[in-house]
Amino acid sequence: MSELPTDEEAAARAAAAFTGRFGAAPEGVWAAPGRVNVIGEHTDYNGGHVLPVALPHTTRAAVARRDDGRLVLVSAQHPGADADVAVAELEPGTPGGWAGYPAGVVHQLREAVPGGLSLLVDGDVPAGAGLSSSAALECAVAVALRDLLDLDLGPDELVDVARRAENDFVGAPTGILDQSASVLCTAGHALHLDTRDRGSEQVPLDLEAAGLALLVVDSGTTHSHADSGYGDRRRECEEAARRLGVGLLCEVTGVDALAPLDDGTERGALLLRRARHVVTEDARVEEVVGLLRAGGDPREVGAVLTAGHASLRDDFEVSVPELDAIVETALAAGAHGARMVGGGFGGSAVALVDAAAVDDVAAAVAGRAGAPRSYVVVPSAGARRLS
Ligand code: GLA
Repeated sequence: MSELPTDEEAAARAAAAFTGRFGAAPEGVWAAPGRVNVIGEHTDYNGGHVLPVALPHTTRAAVARRDDGRLVLVSAQHPGADADVAVAELEPGTPGGWAGYPAGVVHQLREAVPGGLSLLVDGDVPAGAGLSSSAALECAVAVALRDLLDLDLGPDELVDVARRAENDFVGAPTGILDQSASVLCTAGHALHLDTRDRGSEQVPLDLEAAGLALLVVDSGTTHSHADSGYGDRRRECEEAARRLGVGLLCEVTGVDALAPLDDGTERGALLLRRARHVVTEDARVEEVVGLLRAGGDPREVGAVLTAGHASLRDDFEVSVPELDAIVETALAAGAHGARMVGGGFGGSAVALVDAAAVDDVAAAVAGRAGAPRSYVVVPSAGARRLS
């Protein structure tokens, strides 16, 4: 569990790296966090609810305007993989790799970008771990451009800019969970978001006061939404909704209403399982919010998380053996609940554990489940200007 820099340290480090690379100080430094979703997986593109918290881990963007029409992108995490392109020539897919995420945001806002931009990125959101390092990068750049170019963009519009960068420029067909979490989350709270009408509320989540901790466990198996089964799952959900005659699966209430999907074919049985995950998962979000709001024992949330994992594993089929092993090992070591997080096919799991048991659970998942890293996360702040 590594030490994270304070906002001041992070800003100074990014500014110094920018100055070293570009020969002049940046006009500012902005940061946006990664996220871990407490519950509500694969509900966002089905019009359901989600409940993410922002990580203390952020991505920083140090930015300055330039007058030669170029977009120059440098990353402290990808030395030697700079990109230098004319803003006027940006098009989806070019540049690719890490630079596609910030370039995608600039592409969205290109009408407003004056002569060009120098941009240096630094950060500590683990990449490929299902913790939204890509959304953190997009959102850091989006808030930077909003402030620097004085753009009239509200929070939902910022989310949309960042999300379209990912969908249209990078080509990953994700929903709005990650970018919403990175922009809208506040310290000490989980974000209860209705992805259909974009209504949201901040739900206080002070686990420390209850003697609990959220332990995020990286499985070390990477995932990539552009080429994983994520797109297949989206298409299966759309087909199930079409067969049920609804626009979005979360318009269905209760699993009984899914019975017509089971038409005796293999495809029908598969669509029923996919839809059952979505509908029960949406209900689990409301159950967790109810438990937290009722002010009872937050340990009760654990069982709901574990039920969510079983549903992702068996009905939605997006878990992998490494994540199942982490969940089982964490539970055996005393976690109150555990589940995989994010899109799946690799990435991380989250466990709700007694604060006093964090070291034991972390050691168990490292030893018995071979997980390379784990982090205790406290619900942290969303995207912001650092300097
Ligand atoms: C990824 C996507 C999100 C969401 C989750 C699953 O993180 O980017 O939009 O669909 O998977 O909940």
